[in-house]
Amino acid sequence: MIVAGSATQGLAAELAAETGEELAAVSYEQFPDGERVVQITGEADRAVVVASTVSDGDWVELLQLQDALAESGVEDVTTVLPYMGYARQDSAFEAGEPVSARAMARAISTGSDRVLTVNPHETAVCDFFDVPSEPVDAAGRLAEPLGDLTDPLFLSPDEGAIGLAETVREAYGRGSVDHFEKTRHSGSEVEIEPSEAAVTGRDVVLVDDIIATGSTMSQSVDVLNDRDATRVFVTCVHPLLVRNARLKLARAGVEAIYGTDTIERGVSEVSVAPAIADAL
Ligand code: R5P
Repeated sequence: MIVAGSATQGLAAELAAETGEELAAVSYEQFPDGERVVQITGEADRAVVVASTVSDGDWVELLQLQDALAESGVEDVTTVLPYMGYARQDSAFEAGEPVSARAMARAISTGSDRVLTVNPHETAVCDFFDVPSEPVDAAGRLAEPLGDLTDPLFLSPDEGAIGLAETVREAYGRGSVDHFEKTRHSGSEVEIEPSEAAVTGRDVVLVDDIIATGSTMSQSVDVLNDRDATRVFVTCVHPLLVRNARLKLARAGVEAIYGTDTIERGVSEVSVAPAIADAL
């Protein structure tokens, strides 16, 4: 039985179709004081909860879904986090701060026998869970909507995401790979230093794990346009797209933005359901 979090209903339906498992009926309600409550209808020995934790409320809802399954006697629960919020807080960066990713991981381990996380920012986050936990690499799916590219260059905005650019290039079948360097000055301010890669007359596909404020991608697009790239495509696994990110990218002059359905947005062109189904 596949059990959807409210932010992940489309992906859960894709996963049910992909695996042939029943898609459970779930209601998501709120009491007048704002407290949430879920209700699952369906019976099974084994359940897969698929819930991206984009907002704090999504974490509460996930704990409730897990507890509702325990309450109804489900014996084996796999939790799939298509997008794991707080995963970038994987260390106490300043004295007095928490390791938020660890706190979240411990909390949801209590109601789960196994956890799968799609392209976490760092795979080491999987070590924070108290139950067996694995990353799922769905980046290759981003090659699907790209169409016919001229002399393509797959480019990550920093060295940390080069593996994702390599994965998309491999799935696409041709092209070269390179990376820029990024220095982050604050949550929304970054500085991009270009590489020596020739981009004139080429189609460039930028690849990153997350687009949050859009600063990283829009500045990378600016650099590429200054260097006469033919077309610039922006791709990411998790299209968080907070605040005016979408507008920044449009103003930067991107050809298209392609994300996956780990976060259900207008740009979620491809589904990670086949990658999750393979890992289950
Ligand atoms: C961080 O290193 C991630 O890989 C992304 O590059 C980052 O989350 C993007 O953030 P923003 O869109 O706010 O620049």
